[in-house]
Amino acid sequence: MVIGVGPREAFLERIRHGGLVLSPELAAAFAEVPREVFVPDGFQRRDGTWAKPADPDFLDLVYDDDVLITKVDGRTPVSSSSQPSLMALMIEALDVRPGLTVLEIGAGTGYNAALLARLGATVISVDVQEDVADRARFALARAGVEGVRVVHGDGYEGPGVRVDRVIVTVGVAGVSPRWLEQLGDVPGGVLVAPVEHAGTHPVLRITPDLRARVVTASGFMTAAGPLTAAHQFPAPAPPRTLRKLVPYAGSRFNPPLEPLAYRDLWYAAGVWHRRATYAAVPRREQNALMLLDEKRTGGAFVLPDGSVLAGGDEADRYAADATRIIDRWLEAARPPMQAWRITLEPGGDPDAPILLPASWSLTSG
Ligand SMILES: C[S@@+](CC[C@H](N)C(=O)[O-])C[C@H]1O[C@@H](n2cnc3c(N)ncnc32)[C@H](O)[C@@H]1O
Repeated sequence: MVIGVGPREAFLERIRHGGLVLSPELAAAFAEVPREVFVPDGFQRRDGTWAKPADPDFLDLVYDDDVLITKVDGRTPVSSSSQPSLMALMIEALDVRPGLTVLEIGAGTGYNAALLARLGATVISVDVQEDVADRARFALARAGVEGVRVVHGDGYEGPGVRVDRVIVTVGVAGVSPRWLEQLGDVPGGVLVAPVEHAGTHPVLRITPDLRARVVTASGFMTAAGPLTAAHQFPAPAPPRTLRKLVPYAGSRFNPPLEPLAYRDLWYAAGVWHRRATYAAVPRREQNALMLLDEKRTGGAFVLPDGSVLAGGDEADRYAADATRIIDRWLEAARPPMQAWRITLEPGGDPDAPILLPASWSLTSG
């Protein structure tokens, strides 16, 4: 099934909007795999209502460069089809070629697995939710996609067979050592995963020598089970209520940092400060970088214009830390998150360890 030329071109344009370059093979996969088949029960619109296949704007929304939330638990999304441009960046980082076997953690709708299959890979896709795995299997069959096996279970263990690539499409605190064992010494073996850092999930490209670099920023939902086990230095959970905040330092960036540059500063803050996380800025519809104090009721915000707001018992100390982070990032010539080189080490639950980012260095030039 091929979607019409108009919508297909429009979809590719939307995916490429931010300057992203798609390989011809991946562009063909996005053009040919019918995304609507993977969301037969609809998805949640941005305003909270549900878009259904009979709605006049359904296909327009399906072929937008946006995440489609397909299952919620209360107000929390628990399954979705990820944003296509993010999927594209992750698939390109994975270096998929015909004949390779790819392990996917987080089958979700099955759409990403279908794209991988369209690129010629054999896919084993695992989802921890049985109904989600069943629906993905059904959608893949309806779309006529071959070469994908959907497995219900916690992805931590992996399939127990050799694979050439691993792609994780759910936010994790660290990666399973089982996946690396299953990659073994495959030439070019790569694992691509969104790994928690400062309250967000930057996507890492990890090689079997436990070295990693950042592919892109992302905001994935969080995995169940040992993949998000408690570990030594978790980013603090965002606060529920904050004490009164007062301005400590004025604007330093005029115009304010662009979203990508702000993410770069945020990434650096997570390397340099163990209390870096995200929080909603009171009275503004905005999540921002925050250094959260130990009581989780105060600390310091760093806003995109470089101003610092702080509150709580240790406001002075946290505001000084925030200012120092901005100074340090400027002294380092505003390194992008992709400039960091990361080394992973074991941590997490001793009975089900995970490999976590443990040290960072900046590449020069
Ligand atoms: C963002 S969705 C995946 C998107 C999917 N790749 C697609 O193309 O539609 C994340 C999925 O990860 C699954 N998940 C969460 N924790 C998991 C775990 N420990 N093992 C396997 N799957 C998990 C969720 O059930 C959810 O369906």
